[in-house]
Amino acid sequence: MAYQTLIVEIEDYTALIRLNRPDALNALNTTIMRELAEAVTAADANDKVRCIVLTGSEKAFAAGADVREMAAKSFAEVFVENLFGPETDAIARVRKPMIAAVSGYCLGGGCELAMMCDFILAADTAKFGQPEINLGIPAGMGGTQRLTRLVGKSKSMDMHLTGRFMEAAEAERCGLVSRVFPAKALIEETLKIAGKIAEKSMVTAMLVKEAVDRAQETTLAEGLLHERRLFHAAFATEDQKEGMAAFLEKRQPQFRDR
Ligand code: COA
Repeated sequence: MAYQTLIVEIEDYTALIRLNRPDALNALNTTIMRELAEAVTAADANDKVRCIVLTGSEKAFAAGADVREMAAKSFAEVFVENLFGPETDAIARVRKPMIAAVSGYCLGGGCELAMMCDFILAADTAKFGQPEINLGIPAGMGGTQRLTRLVGKSKSMDMHLTGRFMEAAEAERCGLVSRVFPAKALIEETLKIAGKIAEKSMVTAMLVKEAVDRAQETTLAEGLLHERRLFHAAFATEDQKEGMAAFLEKRQPQFRDR
């Protein structure tokens, strides 16, 4: 499917979704948000996709929600249209593994979009920030909640209250980012990692994602019970039998997603 603001390529079981509004540093307007929600939902349902990668350009993953589009809106308008609600809910509902590959500016809604992914890989040029306070608004696509869970209250407050930018090294140190690569190597390294994930059992990868996500939503006791039930349920799959047999027979497993 052709998009106005995205370039989507599916190869080797990975959907590479590239934000493509270069004139506005990939600022997130209603079109790009709608198309992103459609593209990730389609990738989630596509048998040829086992891992999704969201990326931007070298200069910007995304420089935030589109200020030009939002500036004149009233409370009643953004409330009634539920600005960004349905799209961010759709992105967060994706059940397949989804990686953000971040180069350059990753600000406001851009940072929030990256945090909707399962983990973030960054170029050494990446700059993260929640500068909404400078525009007279708090974050509105999950930043106050997801950044706080990822990096803790102190640094989250620092980022949201000062609006400062954080370099890739600091982002890795505080747990926002899982790994940092030289900018030129980011996409190649990300696709290698996506390829590794795509080799796993899709069923197991989806169980893992569901279990880790529970940790953000519930108490430790409930999360541990949920994990144990998913762990037990995995023994009903052919892929568990195959994975363990392959280990004991010292060969590579042939997973069939069953
Ligand atoms: N919304 C709308 N347009 C944006 C944008 C945004 N969030 N971020 C950048 N752009 C546009 C600029 O208006 C400019 O368009 P123009 O050439 O038509 O004027 C273009 O993208 C390039 O941006 P520019 O500011 O000229 O680039 P820069 O390299 O000097 O600065 C940033 C880059 C990211 C520091 C700066 O663009 C910025 O601060 N952006 C806003 C960040 C922000 O507040 N995000 C949170 C939004 S809720």
